Amino acid sequence: MSGQFITVEGGEGAGKTTQLAFMREYLEQRGHRVTLTREPGGTALGEEIRSLLLGHRHDGMALATETLLVFAARAEHLERVIRPALAAGHWVLCDRFTDATYAYQGGGRGLPLERITILENWVQGGLQPDLTLVFDAPVAVGLERAGRRGAADRFEREETAFFERVRAVYLDRARQDPDRCRIVNADRPVVMVRAEVEAILAKWLGCR
Ligand code: TMP
Repeated sequence: MSGQFITVEGGEGAGKTTQLAFMREYLEQRGHRVTLTREPGGTALGEEIRSLLLGHRHDGMALATETLLVFAARAEHLERVIRPALAAGHWVLCDRFTDATYAYQGGGRGLPLERITILENWVQGGLQPDLTLVFDAPVAVGLERAGRRGAADRFEREETAFFERVRAVYLDRARQDPDRCRIVNADRPVVMVRAEVEAILAKWLGCR
């Protein structure tokens, strides 16, 4: 089986990182080679860009700058990690990808979605995830979980209405692309979310 590109999305505190570790374990136990990575980040340059985006040194960054930095990190990530891993037959599990740009820069910050599509077409050249899991939970639940993790980054400091817009765009995109996207109710105990994710992967493996 050739490599598959799976992305995991969701608002703050949706439990993506915990579930990604389980997903890796599940796939490796079935003999697949897995590359687990994240955005923004996943490369040395991308991680530097991540610290610019999430840190507070440039709090008033222009929206265009923010969006271009996200895509600069993504271009590097695609070139150095994602495309080579897929070509080598790995399953790439990526913690956030371009749906996050639609949700955060588009929904949250109000950037016209067509501008994101222009950058997406340029940087990805047609490459899209094969499967996207959107972990969905009420904003208050996610923010409460994220708050327990410590100091808020530049996005976590936004107000509740921002995260409601992020959530709405995620759900909208997932509903418009049901072949690629699955919405997972993340407002449940970790073991229940894990069981649903594994059922989705089992079905996915069965269809490949
Ligand atoms: P996280 O991956 O640790 O949850 O945090 C990454 C943050 O970066 C999160 O608040 C969402 C934000 N982000 C964007 O705003 N646009 C993007 O395209 C990506 C990938 C992430």
